[in-house]
Amino acid sequence: MRVPLVVGNWKMNGNQAECRVLATSIARGLGKKSAKAQVAVAPPFTALAVVGKVIRGTDIKLSAQNCHWQTSGAFTGEVSPTMISDLGCDYVILGHSERRHVFQESDDLIARKIAPVVAHGMRAILCVGETLAERDHLQTAKVIARQLRIALKGSEKGVIDKLEIAYEPVWAIGTGQNATPKQVDQVHRKIRTFLVEALGAAAGNRVRILYGGSVKPENAAELAEVDSVDGLLVGGASLKAETFLPIVRAF
Ligand code: PGA
Repeated sequence: MRVPLVVGNWKMNGNQAECRVLATSIARGLGKKSAKAQVAVAPPFTALAVVGKVIRGTDIKLSAQNCHWQTSGAFTGEVSPTMISDLGCDYVILGHSERRHVFQESDDLIARKIAPVVAHGMRAILCVGETLAERDHLQTAKVIARQLRIALKGSEKGVIDKLEIAYEPVWAIGTGQNATPKQVDQVHRKIRTFLVEALGAAAGNRVRILYGGSVKPENAAELAEVDSVDGLLVGGASLKAETFLPIVRAF
C-alpha cells in the first residue's frame, strides 16, 4: 500500500515571518489527527529553520526545493545536502522543471544529487515531465524514459526505497491548465512500467508517483481519484492554507 503524499512547493515566496504564519495555519488546519495523506512543505532555504520549528511534533514533513551534490566546498551560492539535513529536512525536490529549464540543470547533473540526498538520510522527490512542444511531437514517453533512465542509472536498492517520482508536465506548471486525469493516468502508468522493468516488481511498485501542475482545490479530487496517482506536488495553491488543506483532504 502506497500512502499518498501531498507536497507544498512554496518556491521563491515568503520571508521568515510569512512562512511561519503559513506553516502555522497549515499545521493548525491539519490538527492533531493525522490525515490520510502524508504532508510535506518545501519553503525556500531561508525559511527552512523557522518552518522546521513550527512543524516540529506534527506529522508534517520538511522539504528543501533543491540542493548541491557535494557536502561542502567552493560552490558559491549553493546549499549542500549536509546543510539541509542539519535543518531537519526529510525530503528534497530534485530536477524541478524550473531547475531544468530556467537554470539549465541537465539530466546528468540532477542524477548526481540523488544518492547524496539519500546518504544524508533524506528522501528525494525526482521531477520529470515534458514540454508542450515535446507533447505535441508525441515525445512525452521518450522524454520521461530518458529523464528516469539517467536519474536512476546505477541507483542502489537503498536509494530506490527513498525516492518518489513527481510527474510534472512543464506546460501545466503555473499555467492554470492542469493535465486531465486521463493524461495523468497514461503517463503515470508508463512511469510505473518503466520502474517495474528497471527495478523489479517489488521495488518498482513501492515508489510513489505524484502529479504536479496547476493542482487546485477544484481539480484535486478528480486527480486524487486516479488509481495511479500516489500524491500531488502543489505550487501556487500551497501558498495559502485555505487552498492547500482541501487538496490534502482530497485523499
Ligand atoms: P503549480 O506548480 O501548482 O503552481 O502549477 C507546481 C510545481 O511547480 O511543483
